[in-house]
Amino acid sequence: MENFKAYNPTTLHFGKGVIDNLAATVKPLGRKVLLVYGKGSVKRSGLYDKVMEQLIKAGAEVFEFGGIKPNPTVTDVDKAAALGREKGVDSIVAVGGGSVIDSAKIISITIPVAHSAWKFYEYKARPVKALPLIAVLTLAATGTEMNPFAVLQNEETGHKDGYGSDLCFPRHSFLDPEVTYTVPRDYTAYGIADLIAHCLENYFGAGECTLSDRFINAIIADAMEWGPKLMNNLNGYDERAAIMYDATMALNLMTGYGKARGDWGVHALGHVLSLLYDVPHGASLSIMFPAWMKHHSEKAASRILKLGKDLFGVTGIDETISRFEQFFTLIGSPVRLSQVGIGDDKFEEIVRAMIHSKAEGNHFKLGEEDYRALLSLAK
Ligand code: NZQ
Ligand code: ZN
Repeated sequence: MENFKAYNPTTLHFGKGVIDNLAATVKPLGRKVLLVYGKGSVKRSGLYDKVMEQLIKAGAEVFEFGGIKPNPTVTDVDKAAALGREKGVDSIVAVGGGSVIDSAKIISITIPVAHSAWKFYEYKARPVKALPLIAVLTLAATGTEMNPFAVLQNEETGHKDGYGSDLCFPRHSFLDPEVTYTVPRDYTAYGIADLIAHCLENYFGAGECTLSDRFINAIIADAMEWGPKLMNNLNGYDERAAIMYDATMALNLMTGYGKARGDWGVHALGHVLSLLYDVPHGASLSIMFPAWMKHHSEKAASRILKLGKDLFGVTGIDETISRFEQFFTLIGSPVRLSQVGIGDDKFEEIVRAMIHSKAEGNHFKLGEEDYRALLSLAK
């Protein structure tokens, strides 16, 4: 087992009606609040009104930055940070999925400085402090509600990258499964695919920790039990709650304890597809993970075999991989590039972008020939 540090300062408020505690949580943080949200789902669902009611109850003066897009951009983050800086806000309330909460994390460290947020991603600047961030999660998928990571894309430089800092943990996260009833069928499935991919990235990382493997198996097994039930009953409370809890636990660092690092190569590949064609994050992963396992069926043979045996009670590599493909297909997340409209004619463009992004894992390195092989396995 590797040495590890366990640090997680986020307070989770989980369950029906937890939003009612928002006012009491926000009030001690100061009067001026920057409210960040996405393209409008929060307004359509009525959540925006509930949040505003709480902020008014807290006596807050609210400045709004709406319109964060899925696969969020550093341009929006810089604009929001400029607004927060100009208004002298004391805290940030982010209401949305991973794209909104990730943006808010980086806004929280960019407001106190005078440069673009991208400098953090290039490691040309280090954050010195962060405004307190309160997250109200509306989509179960990324685990951002209880982790220090944020993924942004920069269209100018052609990158979609992750960044992590202990300053970026939300101080509080509110998770009411009922809020996720309105998540459309496709994004519900992509969220399940994403959480399983997070488990697999840590599973295929460097280092051995049997307890982490067992946590990973338990989370995948739970998601595979509840995922299809949820797809058959999108307004089921127990179904939404199980998947929401699975997603949080899948990437709150716990599954990486005792291991050197997760691999994250499939995420790096998926980010290129999102950057080029706006493929939803979870969909990019359900396409690339089976291809990645096929491509690594020799190099990662013992790990794939162990996974198949522990999770499904099967003994073959091909059988294990096809169980994942069957599951993703069952819930309605794509497993081939053609299903998201990407044909062979795009492959050279994708390979060039993968080279430019240096898309590879921490443990399993990838290069040009691997990209070509992976794309042909995923086509
Ligand atoms: O923009 P709005 O109108 O809010 O609509 C969103 C968006 O269209 C909609 N949505 C969210 N909650 C809803 C809802 N629609 C109806 N009802 C609700 N309750 O869903 C769409 C997708 O939202 P988004 O936030 O983009 O999805 P997700 O939570 O999957 O986040 C994806 C982003 O997170 C990054 C991804 O790369 C991607 O940019 N990730 C962040 C990670 C992290 N911070 O740890 C790790 C992940 O691996 C991932 O990379
Ligand atoms: Zn992910």
